[in-house]
Amino acid sequence: MANITFIEANGQSTTVNLADGWSLMQGATTNGVDGILGECGGSCACATCHCYVDEARLGELPAASEGELAMLENVASERRPNSRLACQIKSSAALEGLKVLLPATQE
Ligand code: FES
Repeated sequence: MANITFIEANGQSTTVNLADGWSLMQGATTNGVDGILGECGGSCACATCHCYVDEARLGELPAASEGELAMLENVASERRPNSRLACQIKSSAALEGLKVLLPATQE
């Protein structure tokens, strides 16, 4: 379980207590965070769960798969070095306190 803070482009901040194994996308969409759409339901096929992970903690996350990297080519907002797809990051205690910035648009 981990507390994850989503910060939307307008500055709105929402902290979610996310059970192990749930994706950051699920945590955002089930808690009213508007900045993530998750249109494909988490199957790494839409890129509407684009997020910017706190750069200082980027190295703590499992590396992006080839499929995720391919989908990151299709994000609507600027792709940055810390861009990830929120559906591909699963909650665990190791992520406690993680801050996730959301782009201005997902489509
Ligand atoms: S929810 Fe579709 S790629 Fe993440």
